[in-house]
Amino acid sequence: MESHDWLDTECAALEQAGLRRHLRTVMSAPTGTIHLDGRDVVLLGSNNYLGLSTHPQVITAAIEATRNFGTGASGSRLISGNNELYTTLEANLAKTKNTEAALVFSSGYAANTSIIPILASEGDLILSDALNHASIIDGCRLSRATKKVYRHCDVEHLKALLSESTAFRRRLIVTDGVFSMDGNIAPLPDIYEVATHYEAMLLVDDAHGFGVLGKDGSGTVAHFGLDSEGIIQMGTLSKAVGALGGYIAGSRALVELLINKARGFIFTTGLPPATLAAANTALDVIRSSPELRQRLFSHAEHLKTALINLGYTLLPSETQILPVVLGSPQRATNIADALLAEGVFAPAIRPPAVPPDTSRLRLAVMATHTETEIHKAIAGFAAVIP
Ligand SMILES: Cc1ncc(COP(=O)(O)O)c(C=O)c1O
Repeated sequence: MESHDWLDTECAALEQAGLRRHLRTVMSAPTGTIHLDGRDVVLLGSNNYLGLSTHPQVITAAIEATRNFGTGASGSRLISGNNELYTTLEANLAKTKNTEAALVFSSGYAANTSIIPILASEGDLILSDALNHASIIDGCRLSRATKKVYRHCDVEHLKALLSESTAFRRRLIVTDGVFSMDGNIAPLPDIYEVATHYEAMLLVDDAHGFGVLGKDGSGTVAHFGLDSEGIIQMGTLSKAVGALGGYIAGSRALVELLINKARGFIFTTGLPPATLAAANTALDVIRSSPELRQRLFSHAEHLKTALINLGYTLLPSETQILPVVLGSPQRATNIADALLAEGVFAPAIRPPAVPPDTSRLRLAVMATHTETEIHKAIAGFAAVIP
């Protein structure tokens, strides 16, 4: 059909720029080694940081919930989809986050695109870190508030923008807790101080810190020992928790308003019972298993040191996310392909997920990687040094 010809033209343009994406089919669970395109490869591209998506207790809880509640929620939460598994999970989340209440959404993307337009709209100002996640950027767009982007983790720049913001009705600062493609941690104590001084709200996206940082793995805010009452925490159940879903943890009043007004909460079906039960059990495992976090950080340190010794350039990550910066999209893709041939799956991340000229391999270790798998990964990198 002629009216659709532009689709091929657009795909060809992406190919030309080295930015075309292709789906790969994984034929096994996301453990340290996966079956991909007919062979076993070490997985360095998963957010299943603690290996909980295959934890026996978590799987048992998911099976049990399916037996008791069926496979789907069969309704939006405000109609008939709000079963008791939600109540249990949200109480567990609020306990973990040390907040009055928590509300679960169908994904982290839905949580961010829902809450930001509730917290800020026309006449308000949003201050957003330059490297915030796409779901935050989209939430800001939906809000119709004025948005100003401050330089990555630059608190002085944030302060300067806030000092000119008196004409706005409300101010909202939003930042990733752990930056998803860089692995560094936002300077939350300084940001919180500035937010308090300028009477701005602070929303922290803890997608990559939850389960991993802070006492009992409760996240970036806990990592810094900050007051959980003064900070709105968003997170996801799809990464260290090993399931699916997003959440907002904060005051009872905030949760009430979200239940009444958040479009990404109201106009969608509830999560499957298996997912809710898996997430709830995973939270218990996270709280009682500090050894998983120790192993995760020990693997991260080991891999980071080995790659630096081999001459690779890594961004100064403080977490399980290790970015090996390579520059052009083509270079990142070529090295990812060479690594795959060596039995190591380290996906290339290209614009728009990262800024131009900073295409990279975003490596993520898992607590459940074996020493042998980490050694195999290092040997793969040694074999393909550019
Ligand atoms: C920082 C950040 N926020 C939000 C999300 C969205 O979470 P979810 O995958 O649960 O939609 C992600 C993950 O893709 C993320 O990395």
